[in-house]
Amino acid sequence: MALSVKPTIMMIFGSMGDLTWRKLAPALYNLLLDNQLPELFGVIGLDMKEQSPEEFRQRLRDGANTFCECGKMGEKTWNTFAKKLSYLSGDFSDPSVYKALKSKLAALEKDWGSPAEHIFYLATPPGIVEMIVRGLGAAGLADDKRRARIVVEKPFGHDLASAVALNKMLTTVFDETQIYRIDHYLGKETVQNILAFRFANALFEPIWDRRYIDHVQITVAEQVGVEHRGAYYEHAGALRDMIQNHLMQILTMIAMEPMVSFDANEIRNKKVDVLKAIRPITNDLIEQVAVRGQYGPGTVEGEKAPAYRSEPGVAHDSPIETFAAIKLFIDNWRWQDVPFYLRTGKRLLARASTVIIQFRPVPHQSFPKTAAEAWQPNYLIIDIQPMEGILLRFQAKQPSASLHLTPVDMHFTYQETFKSKVREAYETLLSDVMMGDATLFMRADQVEASWSALTPILNAWAEQKPSDFPNYASGAWGPKAAEALIAKDGRSWMEPVPTGRG
Ligand code: BG6
Repeated sequence: MALSVKPTIMMIFGSMGDLTWRKLAPALYNLLLDNQLPELFGVIGLDMKEQSPEEFRQRLRDGANTFCECGKMGEKTWNTFAKKLSYLSGDFSDPSVYKALKSKLAALEKDWGSPAEHIFYLATPPGIVEMIVRGLGAAGLADDKRRARIVVEKPFGHDLASAVALNKMLTTVFDETQIYRIDHYLGKETVQNILAFRFANALFEPIWDRRYIDHVQITVAEQVGVEHRGAYYEHAGALRDMIQNHLMQILTMIAMEPMVSFDANEIRNKKVDVLKAIRPITNDLIEQVAVRGQYGPGTVEGEKAPAYRSEPGVAHDSPIETFAAIKLFIDNWRWQDVPFYLRTGKRLLARASTVIIQFRPVPHQSFPKTAAEAWQPNYLIIDIQPMEGILLRFQAKQPSASLHLTPVDMHFTYQETFKSKVREAYETLLSDVMMGDATLFMRADQVEASWSALTPILNAWAEQKPSDFPNYASGAWGPKAAEALIAKDGRSWMEPVPTGRG
C-alpha cells in the first residue's frame, strides 16, 4: 500500500466514456498492481447511462485488459479490484444525482470508519463541465477545501476568453488549490526528466542560453489520423488540440529558469514566466511565423489512409488544420532572439515526440576544410516517445592516418539503463492527485498565458480560410510551407527519428 495516500474515493463522471476505458481503467489497474492504491479506496462511476454496477465493472475490466501493458487481469486481482467499484447513473442536470452521491460517500466513509479524500474526475465532454461543477457546488460537495479535489480534462476553453470564463466558473465553486487541470504530457516520464536533466546536473545549465544555443525544435508527430474524433476535431485543429497545451508545456520546461525548490507553485511560477515572455505575434508577422496544413490521402506504414475531409464527422470542405508549425521567441535575458520552432501533425511519416537543441557552431574552425567536411554542430536530442532517452551528438576524429572529423553520439535510453517499464502518464497523474501534489497540473494563469500567446494566430486563421487544403499527403512530414518556415532562417527540421538524424 502507498503509505502517503489517505483513504480515497474517486468519482468518475463520464465513467462509460472513451477516456475512462482507454486511460483511467488501465492506470487504476497499474496503480493497484504497483501497490500504489490506499487500503481504503473506492471508485464510484457516474454516467447518464442507465445500467448496472456490474456493467460498469466489466467496462473497466475490459479497458484495463485492452490497454494495460501489464497483460490481462487475473481472477484474484480482478476480485480485489471489483470490490472497490460501484456505480451511480443519473441526469447530471438533476440535483438528486449529487444528493445520492453525497449519501453514498457518507455510507462508504461510515463503513470504513474514516473520512476520505474526495476526487471528482470529469472525464466528460467540455459542454457539461459547468453543469457538474455547479451540481457539486450546490450539494456542498466542494466545501471541504482540503479533502475535495476536482480533475478537469482538456480542452480548457476554446480561446482566451472562454478559458478565462471557464476558470472563473470553476473558482466560484472550487478554490484554485482544489483544481487539477490535466495535461497528460506532463505525466510522461521523459517530459518530467527534462527538469532532472537540466537542474540535477551542473554540466548543461551554464550553456543553456542564447550564447550557446542556436535554436530549439519541438516536434510531436503522430501517424494516426483523427480516428473517431472528427466531430470534436472540427472545433479544435492542431494548434488548439496539441500546441496550446502539450507543446507549450514542453517549451516551458526547456526554457524555464531554475526553480528554487520542488514546490508545485514555485515550478508553476517559473513556467508561467516563460509563457508571459513569449514575444507577441503581430498580425503582419503571422504568415512568417505560422504554417498550417491538412492531410490528404496517402499511405502510412504501408496502409492506405483517407484524407481528413473524408473522415467521419468531418466537413467535405473543412478548413481545420491537422498540422501546425510555429516559430516563437522568448523575450528575456536567457533566450533573446533564439527561435523555438514547434510543429505537430497527424498522419505524418512516423510517430515521434522529440526536442532537438542545436548548439551554435564553434567560433573558429581550426581544422583543415578537408577534415571538417562532415562537421555538424552539437545537438542534444531529448526523445519523449516512442523512443525514450537523451542523445548528445559531438564531433570525433575518425580513426585513420588522415584527419577526418565525424559526428558521434552518446546515447542514454530508459530501456537499457533502467530495464523496467516506464510508468504511464495517467498512472503518475492519478497518483499525484491522490496525494494532493499539483506540480504536474496546469494552473489557471498557465492556461491563459498560453492561449494569450496563440490568440493572434487563431484569429487570423479563423478569418482567412486556407485555399490550399489538403496540402500534404498522409505519410509525409507535413506541408512544404513548414520546410520554408525554418529554411528561410537558414535552418532545417531534423527528422525526429534516428534514420533522419544524418
Ligand atoms: C491528445 C490529443 O491530447 O493527445 C490527441 O487530443 C492526440 O489528438 C493525443 O492524439 C496524443 O497523445 P500521445 O500521448 O499519444 O502522444
